[in-house]
Amino acid sequence: MIVLGFESSCDETGVALVDASGTAIPRLLAHALHSQIDMHQAYGGVVPELASRDHIQRVLPLTREVMRTAGLTLAEVDVVAYTRGPGLAGALLVGAGVACAMAAALGKPVLGVHHLEGHLLSPFLSADPPEFPFVALLVSGGHTQLMQVDRVGSYTLLGESIDDAAGEAFDKSAKLMGLPYPGGPHLSKLAQQGDAAAFKLPRPLLHSGNLDFSFAGLKTAVLTQAKKLGDTLQARKADLAASTQAAIVEVLVKKSMAAMQQTGLKRLVVAGGVGANALLRSQLNATCLQRGIRVHYPELELCTDNGAMIALAAGMRLQAGLGNLQPSYTFDVKPRWPLGELQESLAHA
Ligand code: KG4
Ligand code: ZN
Repeated sequence: MIVLGFESSCDETGVALVDASGTAIPRLLAHALHSQIDMHQAYGGVVPELASRDHIQRVLPLTREVMRTAGLTLAEVDVVAYTRGPGLAGALLVGAGVACAMAAALGKPVLGVHHLEGHLLSPFLSADPPEFPFVALLVSGGHTQLMQVDRVGSYTLLGESIDDAAGEAFDKSAKLMGLPYPGGPHLSKLAQQGDAAAFKLPRPLLHSGNLDFSFAGLKTAVLTQAKKLGDTLQARKADLAASTQAAIVEVLVKKSMAAMQQTGLKRLVVAGGVGANALLRSQLNATCLQRGIRVHYPELELCTDNGAMIALAAGMRLQAGLGNLQPSYTFDVKPRWPLGELQESLAHA
């Protein structure tokens, strides 16, 4: 079963082909990606209308590239999948529209996929895929969640951010330091030259007794510190970046370990853009090793948004008998779509 997947929920256009034949973990045949980061950088963040227009221009050339790389023709595609939400409405509509039009033209079924399900299943495409059940730490630009994943389609929310996401904390702190968008990778690069103990920053909700996160206070503390530094900010920027990163990473690691303890599970999966962070990976690796926990990550290039995770999630859903293929080619998108609603809303699709 060949699945063609489209991702267009934010500022990356992703197209991919996976082979989800039989019951084996789907195999990535080809994927292509265009990041709009350079275009949005001038505005310090994603401009939704520009994002939609760019997706329109990129999606077909990327599709041709993927078909060529895989050596397949569109007639050989069995199912077309697209990100149905959450994300930017206009951006989502591009992927949904193209996927449904293509499926209609090919006479093949189409399946709308939850973006976060794509992220949390993405480590299945890595060289070291996980096994169910596991705890998932989902850390993207818009979401920070801990989930218990028992099987495909069974996601129990253990805790989540009550305000900013971890990626947002990286991005907003980076902006305060004058770093380009998206701040996460820039802040983490700068942090390599800094002293993480230089500034005492808060670790919000670290001892809250539950698995929720809060990062809005950290951003305010970074702002206060930056103001205090005034003219000396430039000279101390690396120290402030390192201290900020250490605060975010410490909270993510400790809450993840609390989730492992609470569930009694011995497998952790990390997914989403912040999962690319080197300090987070090294601290999780060290802590998990000590505790006999296996930790899995997506391949670095599949941490941030991509089409491969969407084609993969569609393939795994279909293999599990959960993929309610849309009976017609009419479609809607779901800019807000809590993962918990997934089963219910797909059943009604
Ligand atoms: O998963 P993703 O591509 O998009 C969403 O679905 O939101 O995540 C993007 C987020 C951004 O906030 C970005 O700054 C962050 O992931 N990010 C990082 C790193 N690479 C990407 N944050 C910290 N360190 C990184 N190396
Ligand atoms: Zn994402």
